[in-house]
Amino acid sequence: MFEEAQYFAPIAAQDDGSVVVELAASHPGFADPVYRARRNAIAELAVNHRRGEPIPAAEYTEQEHEIWTLVTRELAVKHAKYATAEYLEGVERLGLPETRIPQLEEVGDLLEPLTGFRYLPAAGLVPLRDFYGVLADGYFHSTQYIRHHSVPFYTPEPDVIHEVIGHANGLAHDRYAALYRLAGGAARRVESEEALEFVSKIFWFTLEFGVMQEGAELKAYGAGILSSYGEIEEFRGMSIRPLDIRAMGTTDYDITKYQDVLFRAESLQHLEDVVGGFWENCDDDSIAKLLADA
Ligand SMILES: [Fe+2]
Repeated sequence: MFEEAQYFAPIAAQDDGSVVVELAASHPGFADPVYRARRNAIAELAVNHRRGEPIPAAEYTEQEHEIWTLVTRELAVKHAKYATAEYLEGVERLGLPETRIPQLEEVGDLLEPLTGFRYLPAAGLVPLRDFYGVLADGYFHSTQYIRHHSVPFYTPEPDVIHEVIGHANGLAHDRYAALYRLAGGAARRVESEEALEFVSKIFWFTLEFGVMQEGAELKAYGAGILSSYGEIEEFRGMSIRPLDIRAMGTTDYDITKYQDVLFRAESLQHLEDVVGGFWENCDDDSIAKLLADA
């Protein structure tokens, strides 16, 4: 999931318990009252969900299942070319449905036997500490809505295609799942907001937008690239920098555009050593020192 507030539509709880999702005027579904009503209903499911209870099923239309089918098919072609071997192993292991949107409960049922992860529904932006912290317990917060049917290959906000195709396939691989857990442990350990933000930026430049050398080719393992029909064709042309904790933790990014600065791991082992090692051991002091030296 993306972390920045401006990217998520704000959620307003009404006095009668209902929920209104305030889509921006530029959102492709803004003028579609049917879509707006369903977005409100889906957000309400997440707002009223309590951890430990089954996640209520979101009602998707045939048209929405068709979006999933189309995007799944097109992304699979691109994954074969651009995704890391471990992500592709995750795809094989998880076996997501290809012609209908899976419910988040079902994603958890597929994932839990593999790496212990389950999904939690999110109405919109989840506070950083909660979003990252629960990764340590094997929970991943996910939106449930899908993008508007008028632009099947575009979404201004993280939708179920990003959360499930991008993240769950990675979470299905033991070594990536271990990295998510380590990010969660780091978020739990640090106390200052500054240190938490630093931890989240490392997540952004790795598990969201990370790229990795694989033989002679640059591949992607970040969920944000792997779930984006457009960005996956562009990442090799971006400014590719060596994996560096201080640089990742202090580089700014713009969530509303293709990411033009990416950090390359030389291998999965390299990613585990540098980023896994950082998350495993970092604390407020070590991060303050990195920031002071920047
Ligand atoms: Fe994400």
